[in-house]
Amino acid sequence: MNDDKVRLLLVDDLPENLAALEALIGRADLETHKADSGTQALELLLTHDFALAILDVQMPGMDGFELAEFMRGTERTKHIPIVFVSAGSQELNYAFKGYETGAVDFLHKPLDVHAVRSKVNVFVDLYRQKRTLSRQLRALQEAQLEQEMLMAELQKTQAELQLAIRNRDDFLSAAAHELKTPLNVLKLHAQMRERHLKHGDNSAFSGEKFAKMVTRESRLVETLVRQIDDMLDISRIRTGKLYLRPTEFDLGEMVDDTVGQFSEQLAATGNDLHLTIARHIVGRWDQFRLEQVLTNLVTNAMRYAPGTPLEITVTRHGSGARIAVRDHGPGIPQEHQQRIFQQFEQASGGASGLGLGLYISKQIVEAHGGDIFVQSIPGGGATFLVELPLEGGSESEG
Ligand SMILES: Nc1ncnc2c1ncn2[C@@H]1O[C@H](COP(=O)(O)OP(=O)(O)OP(=O)(O)O)[C@@H](O)[C@H]1O
Ligand SMILES: [Mg+2]
Repeated sequence: MNDDKVRLLLVDDLPENLAALEALIGRADLETHKADSGTQALELLLTHDFALAILDVQMPGMDGFELAEFMRGTERTKHIPIVFVSAGSQELNYAFKGYETGAVDFLHKPLDVHAVRSKVNVFVDLYRQKRTLSRQLRALQEAQLEQEMLMAELQKTQAELQLAIRNRDDFLSAAAHELKTPLNVLKLHAQMRERHLKHGDNSAFSGEKFAKMVTRESRLVETLVRQIDDMLDISRIRTGKLYLRPTEFDLGEMVDDTVGQFSEQLAATGNDLHLTIARHIVGRWDQFRLEQVLTNLVTNAMRYAPGTPLEITVTRHGSGARIAVRDHGPGIPQEHQQRIFQQFEQASGGASGLGLGLYISKQIVEAHGGDIFVQSIPGGGATFLVELPLEGGSESEG
């Protein structure tokens, strides 16, 4: 009942009384409903919201008092003010005993126009005020609820923000530390060379020692470049700008070439390489990105499983392809097997690296519509599996 109408209920068994009463009240702004029996009045009471009911006390069947008892006993109607119209004495008027709550009043026949109007006015005004108040209250409650919701949302956002800031700080200090380690070595080498130059010590710039130094330095530079690339990739992934540039190529050849670049390093870390490659698995993928995935898996194997055999296989898998990188190192406990694919997550504390490699790899593989996961029993090495559809992703897709 959210309309603005104010309804009035008149109940009298005589139609001429009803008409006379309506005329006496004389208010066109009210919606008047007339009932010629208690039963009809009850029907109206159940379908409409009334500001006031004016009941004739003496009616055949259900009289005015009985109707009032009914109204008091019903939740919906119990607060409607009632004005009884009676011809009898004052005493008789108080016969309605059950009536304790809510407003009640009496009009006596013959009806006096001023008495009728002033009573109607009082109850109508009361009704209007009550309605306005309850509307304001409802609006207030709604506003309060909304405010509470906003507040909760704000607190949640704030907590998320604080966590994000802390993560960013942690990442920055880890990144700085990571970058500084190779940089310190390079700086040391540079200082050494400076000293040799100053003292005219040319022997330091030739021979096996010098070659070793150069190799070591270019590896450090490569590491630095890779780490910076990883950080850039992270921000590309965050902003949804990790685009794929698929071209058609043979997956086995790509794996062969990429792993080939690590032969010296694998020898240095004591990882015996076993390659098994199914030929002619041709598809469309982003070659640079898949090389990046493989590089990370091989680097991880050298880092976390040095001195153990490394088996890399490329096979058909269903309608797609599969690259498996299996080492025989310490493996990864079950509880870390999902986590290591998340940002900044490392299974073993204090490991070198930023914990970005597998996260980036996962984003790349998933952008290709593929899947990457690990199978491992602690102590039994780890097998990283990269499964790819032959049509790996479309152009310009995150
Ligand atoms: N072959 C593996 N054997 C055992 N643990 C591994 C292996 N590969 C990865 N992990 C674990 O998973 C973690 C996450 O690897 P990920 O490549 O994401 O990061 P990272 O190698 O630590 O650093 P980044 O790759 O950024 O230099 C590693 O820190 C390591 O704990
Ligand atoms: Mg890594």
